[in-house]
Amino acid sequence: MNAYRDLRVALLGCGSVGAQVARLILENSDELAARIGARLTLDGIAVRSIDAERDVELPKELFTTDAERLVQGADIVIELMGGIEPARSLILLALGGGADVVTANKALIAAHGRELSDAADQVGAQLLYEASVAAAIPILRPLRESLAGDHITRVMGIVNGSTNYILDRMDRFGESAEDAMKLASDLGFLEADPTLDVEGFDAAQKATILASIAFHTDVPESAVYREGITEVTLDQITAARHAGFVIKLLAVAERLTSVEGTDGVSVRVYPALIPREHPLAAVYEGKNAVFVEAEAAGELMFYGAGAGGNETASAVLGDLVSAARRHVVGG
Ligand code: HSE
Repeated sequence: MNAYRDLRVALLGCGSVGAQVARLILENSDELAARIGARLTLDGIAVRSIDAERDVELPKELFTTDAERLVQGADIVIELMGGIEPARSLILLALGGGADVVTANKALIAAHGRELSDAADQVGAQLLYEASVAAAIPILRPLRESLAGDHITRVMGIVNGSTNYILDRMDRFGESAEDAMKLASDLGFLEADPTLDVEGFDAAQKATILASIAFHTDVPESAVYREGITEVTLDQITAARHAGFVIKLLAVAERLTSVEGTDGVSVRVYPALIPREHPLAAVYEGKNAVFVEAEAAGELMFYGAGAGGNETASAVLGDLVSAARRHVVGG
């Protein structure tokens, strides 16, 4: 067996995504080491309660409540706690110590992305957050890297899995909003505070992140028009169906150019009538889809799982491997 050097990984949070990330790091250790050229050593998992029930059985000795101490010894920190604090402070602590950071925290990136990127740039560390938008779908890296030479004009799609699940159940099975929401909850699609999903905050945060990357500008969350699905009724959905439409919670980010030639950006989230023959109409259950329009590339569509522990963990692992590889290349 190759004698790989160790890269110390600290995991903050062990909810539905964190537990799967820990499982994948432990189960795929040899395969990841061969792929990276260094071994990822899971140093510990910071949690609020060591004895809480978890989706995955993990070695008890990995758990700690001392997140600060864990962060200080790490080469790479994975933040999956969610929310603004203490996640923000812990990420700043990690970056300040030169560690790379991988996070799925859309609320934090939407509100403090600039501050955190600047902190990373100051020390030459990496801040990666592919999992923050549309879970398993690779969308941020394509926008940032693959389309870096193009001029993106519009990013549009379904970026919230739980509301898509709820609207889909109402549309295809005639379920009540309450029953559909209970099912979405059982599947682990909803945020801890479901208001974030049904009032469109989660989609607005993701739209903010998409717009910032696509249009190379900071987009304040407060500039995003937001309307959730709480006012959408089964009667409206049925009437829309009879008229050849399906109601979806749509996120749209567009580049606007004034007659004077100055660039602006419009970002909005709202329930929209989608024609049945449009590809977005066929985005069922917890799936997401993002359309990108760029001057040279034309229209692109990204589709896949937009929520779920394992699915989101896939994107986190992708960022982890990417961060780890740069450690190896950089020595
Ligand atoms: N609550 C989120 C959703 C989870 O429904 O899309 C994934 O970000």
